[in-house]
Formats: sequence, C-alpha cells, structure tokens
Amino acid sequence: MHYFWIYSSRAKTAPALATAALLFRQARCRTPDTHLTGYLHREGDIFVQYIEGSWEDVRRLRHAILADPAHRDIRVVASGRIETRRFSGWSMMYTDDSVLSFRTYQAAFGLEPDIRRASTSDLLKFMEEMTISYEATGQEVPLMAETA
Ligand SMILES: Cc1cc2nc3c(=O)[nH]c(=O)nc-3n(C[C@H](O)[C@H](O)[C@H](O)COP(=O)(O)O)c2cc1C
Repeated sequence: MHYFWIYSSRAKTAPALATAALLFRQARCRTPDTHLTGYLHREGDIFVQYIEGSWEDVRRLRHAILADPAHRDIRVVASGRIETRRFSGWSMMYTDDSVLSFRTYQAAFGLEPDIRRASTSDLLKFMEEMTISYEATGQEVPLMAETA
C-alpha cells in the first residue's frame, strides 16, 4: 500500500532557470534518502507535483514542501491511497513547458488548458504520457534526483 499527494503552487521567483536550479538543489535534500517517486512539472510560474511512497515518506516531504518559502498559494489537488506506484522507474521526474506545455497538450484534446483548473486525471495522464514518451525515445531524462 502506498500513498500519494498532488498539489499545485506558484513559484516566488519569476525566472524559470533560477527556479529550476533551486528546485534541483533542494530536491537532492530529501528524495534520494527515501523511496519516494513522482513527477514535478512547471508551467510558467505554476508547479504541479505528484509524490508517492510510504505514508511516512509522503508525510515528511509534504511537510517540507508546505513550509518551503520558494513557492506560495499551494492548492492540494488530491491525496489518497494507491495499490501500486505510477512512477516506479523514477525518483522525481521533472519537466517544464519548454519540454511540453500542458496548455498545448490539453488544447490538442479540447480539454481544460489552465493547469490550475485541470482535473487530477488530466494532470496524471499528462505526466504518465510524458514518462512513456521519454522511455520510448531513450532520451536522457531530466531527473531531479538519481533513480533509486
Ligand atoms: C515546487 C517544489 C518542489 C519540491 N520538490 C521536492 C522533492 O521532490 N524532493 C525534495 O526532497 N524536496 C523538494 N522540494 C524542496 C523541499 O521543499 C525542501 O526544501 C527540501 O526537501 C529540504 O527540506 P528540509 O529542509 O526540511 O530538510 C521542493 C520544493 C518546491 C518549492
């Protein structure tokens, strides 16, 4: 049995590169010591992150994230229990709208383009398709931390 937590938030620092660099550094703090897996996407100044793992690991990272001054305006999208992990091959995959824009992806299907309003299932479908296409192309993956 695993737990998951998915939220969105707004980055405090505007420049995308600075934010990505900060996150990359911060992500190394905790994730590699745990069996957490998941996905972080940045769309403009909005982050959406899905994390999954044991109740204790998810709870600890959630606590750190909620207290992190790097972002604000956090909205919990969903949380709960799952039988199996969705991102078992990844530590914390990271993409942003320079790789693929959620807005563009959704518009292609006629679905809600605003990442702050999108449904949990649309967000997860986007993330799962991104990992599948990375695996298929064999491209180097922009991991936030090494795969466990
Ligand atoms: C949008 C966002 C996503 C983050 N994702 C992770 C993550 O996946 N893993 C992680 O260890 N820290 C992540 N962090 C950093 C944590 O908030 C925190 O700074 C870090 O885990 C260190 O926590 P600690 O100071 O309590 O040890 C993220 C921060 C932000 C703003």
